[in-house]
Amino acid sequence: MEIKQNISLKNRNTFGIDVFADKLVDYYSIEELQDFIRCRVADGDTSPLLHIGGGSNLLFLKDFHGTILHSCIQGINVTADEGDNIYVRVGAGIRWDAWVQYAIDSSWFGLENLSAIPGEVGASAIQNIGAYGSEAKDFILYVDCVDLETGDIRHFCRAECEYGYRDSIFKNVVSGRYAVTHVHFQLSHSFRPNIEYGGIRAALQEQGIKEWDLSPAMLRQTIIHLRQQKLPDPNVCGNAGSFFKNPIISYEDWAKLLENCPDAPHYELETGVKVPAAWLIEQCGWKGRSLGKAGVYANQPLVLVNNGDAQGKDIAALSKAIQDDVAKHFGITLETEVCFV
Ligand code: EPU
Repeated sequence: MEIKQNISLKNRNTFGIDVFADKLVDYYSIEELQDFIRCRVADGDTSPLLHIGGGSNLLFLKDFHGTILHSCIQGINVTADEGDNIYVRVGAGIRWDAWVQYAIDSSWFGLENLSAIPGEVGASAIQNIGAYGSEAKDFILYVDCVDLETGDIRHFCRAECEYGYRDSIFKNVVSGRYAVTHVHFQLSHSFRPNIEYGGIRAALQEQGIKEWDLSPAMLRQTIIHLRQQKLPDPNVCGNAGSFFKNPIISYEDWAKLLENCPDAPHYELETGVKVPAAWLIEQCGWKGRSLGKAGVYANQPLVLVNNGDAQGKDIAALSKAIQDDVAKHFGITLETEVCFV
């Protein structure tokens, strides 16, 4: 376990916001985490706790007076291999994309479309990360956790995780209560490419790749290429990927929107109609614009960027201005995907 006091979190959040935490604890095993919790309980320490992953979905608004916990738990272990299915237990502290690469190199398939997503494996199970028609929940069988109040181990099967679009029980009723230590994935020995999502087919055609020649590694490279075209590299320009969720509106509201905007892009779902937040933001004239030190990325307006030494409040002010404009023009509430701390 590594404990640091009064430490900058600039390198611990992909926005690169320079705030300080009273304490930062990096732990390397379940036992180390349990020791930390039991000492805390014994000391009667009730100061705030915040568990982070790669910090790719966080916006720090101020210094954190409490303890930041971070898992460095490693390990990729096959727990069962049955027919077409392979079951793998993965440490929460492994970088998500290192895991995707490892799976593809091992000929365990399914995660190709989730290539190059920033963050760590533990957070993938909390946030239900998604891209190009796939979501983490499609492959998660269960999640091993430690109760941050007692140190006890608890397992959540997929149904108990209550997964939704960028959502899970860990963001709702049990928010802040559990640390994910391992995620159990179910992958496949057969490669079944999922290339229906907009842009993948066209990108394959552009590269002259025929569907029947497509390998998992090629699909991964195509997804990486697509993401690089649209999304800024956090090492070059601070950002947290999509800042907002794509709103899902009722069919009634959709009919009204259609009267004024007959060409509005949309995806029809059982629960309503998903309208791309990127489109709503662009229509309001925010694409590529800045407000102080915070900006709207020109290639994908769903992404807010740190133009230099922005503070959390600068990004939050831009977010609020966009939300207000979208509400004014379309009557639609944009919810943030990024968590404000
Ligand atoms: N669009 C515009 N203007 C733009 C860009 C996009 O109007 O400048 C519209 C277009 O109609 C486009 C639509 O937005 O068809 C959707 O754009 P895109 O396919 O780029 O995806 P997205 O809905 O904006 C979602 C995820 C991304 C994920 C991509 C690809 C959310 C909140 N975001 O974005 O996830 O990479 O699909 O699957 O669901 C993330 O969560 O951090 C993230 C990057």
